[in-house]
Amino acid sequence: MTTVAAPSRPAYDELSVSSLDFWAATAEERDKTFKVLRENRPVSWHRPLDGSLMPPENDGVWVVTSHELVREVSRKAKIFCSGRGFQFEEVPEDILTAAGSFLGMDDPRHAKLRRLVSTAFTPKQIAKIHDQIRNQAKVIVDDLLAAPEGDFVSAVSKKLPMWTIYEMVGLDDQEARELAAHHADGMVSWADEDVAAGREPGEVLNDALVGLLEIGFDLADQRRISPRNDLMTNLVQAEVDGEQLTDEEIASFFVLLSVAGNDTTRNSITLTTKTFQGFPDQRDLLLADFDNRIDDAVEEFVRFASPVMTFRRTATQDVELGGQFIREGDWVAIIYSSANRDSKVFADPDRFDITRTNNPHLGFGGGGPHNCMGNFVARSQLREIFRELLHRAPTLRVGEPEYLTGNFVRAVKSMPYTL
Ligand code: HEM
Repeated sequence: MTTVAAPSRPAYDELSVSSLDFWAATAEERDKTFKVLRENRPVSWHRPLDGSLMPPENDGVWVVTSHELVREVSRKAKIFCSGRGFQFEEVPEDILTAAGSFLGMDDPRHAKLRRLVSTAFTPKQIAKIHDQIRNQAKVIVDDLLAAPEGDFVSAVSKKLPMWTIYEMVGLDDQEARELAAHHADGMVSWADEDVAAGREPGEVLNDALVGLLEIGFDLADQRRISPRNDLMTNLVQAEVDGEQLTDEEIASFFVLLSVAGNDTTRNSITLTTKTFQGFPDQRDLLLADFDNRIDDAVEEFVRFASPVMTFRRTATQDVELGGQFIREGDWVAIIYSSANRDSKVFADPDRFDITRTNNPHLGFGGGGPHNCMGNFVARSQLREIFRELLHRAPTLRVGEPEYLTGNFVRAVKSMPYTL
C-alpha cells in the first residue's frame, strides 16, 4: 500500500448499496450485487446512505467487498480507524461513546479497556461456563418441546445469548434481564416500524440506550457494595493506568456487551435453523458424527449466516486500497457477508457445507484489534444449542423468517415453528 497524489472522485458505482431498498431486499439479492462488486471492483465508491436517521455529512462511502481487502482493512487499524464511528450512519459522538464502549475506540485506549475484560472471555474461562451453557440449552429445548408451535426466535434463539451474557456479567434478576434484552433489541432495531410502535426512531434509540445505561449503573452500584465473582465486580474493581473506570465507562461496556452478545448469536441460531431445513443432507451428516463434526460445523454456521454484515472505518491518512485512492477522513465500509462468499477463498461459496475445514470466514471480524471478543462464547452456545435441537427436535419445522431492515446485523424478528 503506497500513498499517491489525490485524483478526483470516481463516479458513484452503478450498483448502489446506499438505498434502504437494497438493505430491505433478501440476503440472496444483496449477494448478487456484492458478487459483481467483489469480482470486478472490490473497492467501490457509493453515495451516503439514503433516508438515514443520522445522515452522514460527507460525499460518499467506499465499500470493500473481497475477503482479502476486508481482512487488510481490519488489520491496518492505524490507517482505518474505529474511533470516528463504526456504522453507515453518522452517530453523534455522545451516543457513540455511551453505546460503543471500546468498539468505537482506537489503541492505546481500546487495548487497555479490552485487556481489562478479556480475561473473562478466554477459552479457559469459557470452558468453565461451558457446562452451564450446556444445561441451559437443555432447558430451552425442554420448553420448546412442551410448546408444539410458536415463534422460534422468542422460544429458542433469544434465550441462550441473553442468559449467558447476563450470567457472566452478574445480572441475576430475571425481570432486569428481560428488560435489558428488550433495550438491546431497541439499540439495533430503532428504525423498524414494529419496534417503534408509533414512536420516532430517535426516541426508540434514546429510550433503549438510557434504559440499558441505567441497568448498568445500578448493577455497578450493587457490586461496589457487595462484590461477587462476576464480570461487573471485576469492572468496578479494575484499574487502568492507576485510575478506576468511571461509571459511564462501565455502563457503556454493559451496553456493548448487551448488544454484541445478544443479537449476534440469536440471529446465528435462527438463520442456521432455517439453513438446515434447506440442506437436510448436512443435518444428517452432522448427526452421524456430531462430536467430531460440530467444531467445523459451527464455523460454517457463522460463515453462512454472516449475522454481522458490515462495519465501518475511517481513513486516518490518504491511502491507496484495491486500486482506489482513499482520502484522509473518508468512510470505508467492510462487508463481512460479501467476504464470506468470496469464491477465491471458499469453494462453491453458496453451498452450506459443514465439512469445510480451516474455514477462514470473517464472521467474527477480519483479525484486527477489534476482532470479536465473544467468539469463544458464541461458539460454545452454537455447539450446545444445536446439539440439543438436532438430537431432540427432529420434527422441528420452521417457516419464513421475518427480517428487520438494516445494514448492520442480519436480524430476524420472528420465525414460526411447528413440531
Ligand atoms: C455468532 C456470534 C457473533 C458474531 C458473528 C460476532 C461478530 C463480531 C464482529 C464482526 C465484531 C467486530 C470485529 C471487528 O471490528 O474487527 C465483533 C466485536 C465484538 N464482539 Fe462479537 N460476535 C458474536 C458474538 C459475540 C458475543 C456472544 C459477545 C459477548 C459475549 C461478543 C462481544 C463482542 C465485543 C465486546 C466486541 C468488540 C471487540 C473490540 O472492539 O475490541 N460478540 N463481534
